[in-house]
Amino acid sequence: MKPLVNRVSEFSRKAKGAFDKARTLEDFKNFYAEFLSKKSELNEFLKGMKDLSEGERKKIGPLIQSLRTELTELFEQKQSQLEQQEMNKKLVADWLDITKRREQWKGSLHPVSLVQKRIEEIFTSMGFEVADGPEVETEWHNFDALNIPDSHPARDMQDTFWISTGHEKSHQNTVLRTHTSSVQIRKMMADGAPVRIIVPGRVYRNEAVDMTHDATFYQVEGLLVDKGISLAHLKGTVQTMLSELFQKDIKIRFRPGYFPFVEPGLEVDIWFEFTDKEGKSRAMWLEFMGAGMVHPNVLRNCGIDPSKYSGFAFGFGLTRLAMMKYGIEDIRLLFSQKKDFLNQFACS
Ligand code: PHE
Repeated sequence: MKPLVNRVSEFSRKAKGAFDKARTLEDFKNFYAEFLSKKSELNEFLKGMKDLSEGERKKIGPLIQSLRTELTELFEQKQSQLEQQEMNKKLVADWLDITKRREQWKGSLHPVSLVQKRIEEIFTSMGFEVADGPEVETEWHNFDALNIPDSHPARDMQDTFWISTGHEKSHQNTVLRTHTSSVQIRKMMADGAPVRIIVPGRVYRNEAVDMTHDATFYQVEGLLVDKGISLAHLKGTVQTMLSELFQKDIKIRFRPGYFPFVEPGLEVDIWFEFTDKEGKSRAMWLEFMGAGMVHPNVLRNCGIDPSKYSGFAFGFGLTRLAMMKYGIEDIRLLFSQKKDFLNQFACS
């Protein structure tokens, strides 16, 4: 075997040569493994020191130690330099400009919500409260308490989504409410008279869907019960609402209509002026809502004395009103979730 001094200087040359050739972090890892790790020849030199004679150890020991220090320093310097470089590369690659603004899609209120909001503003400014009730309703609140007889066609399987029915007629039977009128009952039962509420809400009818009908739509109920209330109050209230909503005077007319929970019952038509597809101005009477004076039976069912109190009630289609206000011709568009349709209502 060659003398140790020669082996050490050969090792030193090889190590420095390898170091000079190394470029990448990977190269330097290999360099470490070969020349500095426990498995390296250097480590063997160190381990072999104890077998040397004292004289030899004094001569060659410092040589090996300083070689080790030198190689370690070279390696550590280079390694941190390369790590820094890798880090910089990563930083550049991962750079994200958090101040840059993306093209944003703005959300918007649904046209039905827009009209609902406006209606609520108008009625609260007239002293009405906005009330709410369950969409799954008892047969009693939806029909019986509203003086709607068992034989009434509205109860037919055709029109009503029944949730649960017993064999016997029972007040526990439940339906998807077919109108917001059920909330009249809930409110009067809870608070008695006087009452002044509107009830915007979703209702359900078991109907075939077409351009103007959907199985679900929104209504707004109105109810005012107090002393000395007459049809004149109803007329004034409706007229105020419409002129506020459309920002102009709207002509209305009353026709007799039948709803079991009002007496007399009315249909309210409005004179609707609009621009047609050809750009021509047109106008016609449109059926707008059902209304009337609250039937004494309904007041009595809710514990209110009809000899002391009277009231008016009305109910109109909020969905239909939104269609009128925005000139939407197909009801199905409203719940289509089509973005280009909804975007038209985005506020800027
Ligand atoms: N509930 C009736 C409907 O859905 C509307 C209405 C409400 C009529 C209040 C009169 C009074 O058609």
